[in-house]
Amino acid sequence: MQHLKDRVVIVTGAGGGLGREHALLFAREGAKVVVNDLGGASAVVDEIRASGGEAVANTDSVADWAGAERIVRTAVEEFGDLHALVNNAGILRDRMLVSMTESDWDSVITVHLKGTFACTRHAAGYWRQKAKETGGPVEAAIVCTSSGSGLLNGVAQSNYGAAKAGIAAFAQIAAKELSRYGVRVNTIAPVARTPMTAPTEEFAEMFRPPADADAFDVFDAANVSPLVVYLASTLCPYTGGVWQVMGGEVGLFEGWQVVASLQRESRWSVEELRKEIAGLVGARASAEGKLLSEAKPFAGWEATLREPR
Ligand SMILES: NC(=O)c1ccc[n+]([C@@H]2O[C@H](COP(=O)([O-])OP(=O)(O)OC[C@H]3O[C@@H](n4cnc5c(N)ncnc54)[C@H](O)[C@@H]3O)[C@@H](O)[C@H]2O)c1
Repeated sequence: MQHLKDRVVIVTGAGGGLGREHALLFAREGAKVVVNDLGGASAVVDEIRASGGEAVANTDSVADWAGAERIVRTAVEEFGDLHALVNNAGILRDRMLVSMTESDWDSVITVHLKGTFACTRHAAGYWRQKAKETGGPVEAAIVCTSSGSGLLNGVAQSNYGAAKAGIAAFAQIAAKELSRYGVRVNTIAPVARTPMTAPTEEFAEMFRPPADADAFDVFDAANVSPLVVYLASTLCPYTGGVWQVMGGEVGLFEGWQVVASLQRESRWSVEELRKEIAGLVGARASAEGKLLSEAKPFAGWEATLREPR
């Protein structure tokens, strides 16, 4: 049974890595796919067509405002509609903060954060118009791509982490705003072996396929795609979620929240705060057995933190 028969889906950055796996699974599930990437999109389209699926390539940058509009227009002009957008495209420019250049910062923020906004904005404009014309909800979905580096503070990734944490916040706000049109917005924080992780020695080592060909290949990028397809399909009723996905593990993140507080009906002095705040932090530490900043939902994640460079 195909879960997305005749649905029209855009996957950005789908020329390789996770995006390619998403695009292939969407096509196997019956969707018509716009495969976007700066390079490699045509090869993935050929692969989909060779297995009897429908796909079209787009080579615009998600970070370009007019390009993002063309990505959305490609879906509507080629396949007559749009039902799901997967914001997946991304780049890395890892460096310690003290060595980071303006261009390292700008390029990462632009591709991830502006790219996610630009594609979402153009898709949302299309869906708002469609909702007005049809007088009902459009039953559409967006899946954004965050990262443990943003949600759990990856060292040497202040640019990437800020963009990825921003994407999680953006997606949750978008979920609230777009629900009136029938558009759901969810976010994944994946972990997988891809061209993005290959150059980093620790990841290359940790993500290596198992020697035993019959053992589960936890870091196979294809393990991430079923959750993306589910979130993008009408099978999923949820919106505003931030989902961790790695191998056979699917988890739900919980966002920022006040976990302990000092309360009184008057202003604190600096000296009073100096005395009281240690108790506040300590209360949290003893309640949880650890400081909040030490919580790391991915097993072994701390081993993947980069050495200072
Ligand atoms: N692999 C992981 O463990 C991991 C972990 C957390 C988050 N992510 C995120 O998952 C997404 C996919 O990453 P991946 O690991 O498959 O990496 P990848 O490098 O294999 O794929 C990213 C793709 O995005 C494309 N791209 C880059 N800039 C673009 C632009 N401006 N417009 C269109 N396409 C563009 C690249 O050409 C590439 O094919 C990214 O957003 C990444 O940050 C990956």
